Amino acid sequence: MVTETGTPLLSIRGLETRFGSKTIHSGLDLDVQRGEILVLFGGSGSGKSTLLRAIIGLDAPSAGAIFLEGQDITQFDEKQWREVRKKVGYAFQNGALFDSLTVAENLEYPLRELTDMSAEERYKARQNMLERIGMPEIGDLYPAELSGGMQKRVGMARALMLNPALILYDEPTAGLDPANIKKIANLMLDRKAEGQTGILVTHDVACALMVGDRIAFLNEGRIAVIQERAAIDREPDERIAAYIKGDVE
Ligand SMILES: Nc1ncnc2c1ncn2[C@@H]1O[C@H](COP(=O)(O)OP(=O)(O)OP(=O)(O)O)[C@@H](O)[C@H]1O
Ligand SMILES: [Mg+2]
Repeated sequence: MVTETGTPLLSIRGLETRFGSKTIHSGLDLDVQRGEILVLFGGSGSGKSTLLRAIIGLDAPSAGAIFLEGQDITQFDEKQWREVRKKVGYAFQNGALFDSLTVAENLEYPLRELTDMSAEERYKARQNMLERIGMPEIGDLYPAELSGGMQKRVGMARALMLNPALILYDEPTAGLDPANIKKIANLMLDRKAEGQTGILVTHDVACALMVGDRIAFLNEGRIAVIQERAAIDREPDERIAAYIKGDVE
């Protein structure tokens, strides 16, 4: 359910990101409404992951503002960023599990770092999450003992442990077989049904059209167009249509 009323959960205004002489974002504006999954399309190297990294504070933008619930998080100090990290989960493009920790320890990591939950509460929370992702038995395994698809699901589960208001999914289905893609898509839809807001970066058009409420297209440093999911079937914007057809690099 997309609620258009009230302030957006996330508002980005005039975002600029430069690495040396290279400009990645320039004058980028984007609003993400509460409860929606916004899909972000864009060619490889267009700056999608960098945008997610800015939202979670891993890359500082060169200029511009990122408002989360109305507050400009680019101005936050380290203590305030801890609060942001409870509200925003990031499922990394590569899973980014800690290799030296078991699955259980990986899942409990954000709980240890950012909450004062007891060991028993942490145990319950991660077992509950392992059930949700359909792999209750794997807590004692290390990431290297899992398949790529399992690692992705655990990475996503770790991003969901704190039940963040906003979750950033960076290519969650890349390289997965159809059965794992379906599991990931269903997990995203389940969370959306529970009211969680998401930004989904993906090259997987089928998955995007299945879970997305709106589709945005990042091109030449800014959001070139945003279209409601329902409108894509009726009369797709020509730039989105070209991207879907593979005519845009
Ligand atoms: N820390 C950095 N220093 C220098 N350049 C960077 C840095 N991070 C990203 N870039 C550059 O910014 C550009 C955008 O990278 P980004 O990872 O955001 O692309 P992307 O849209 O996620 O691509 P893909 O679809 O391949 O994942 C690339 O040209 C990349 O080389
Ligand atoms: Mg990327």
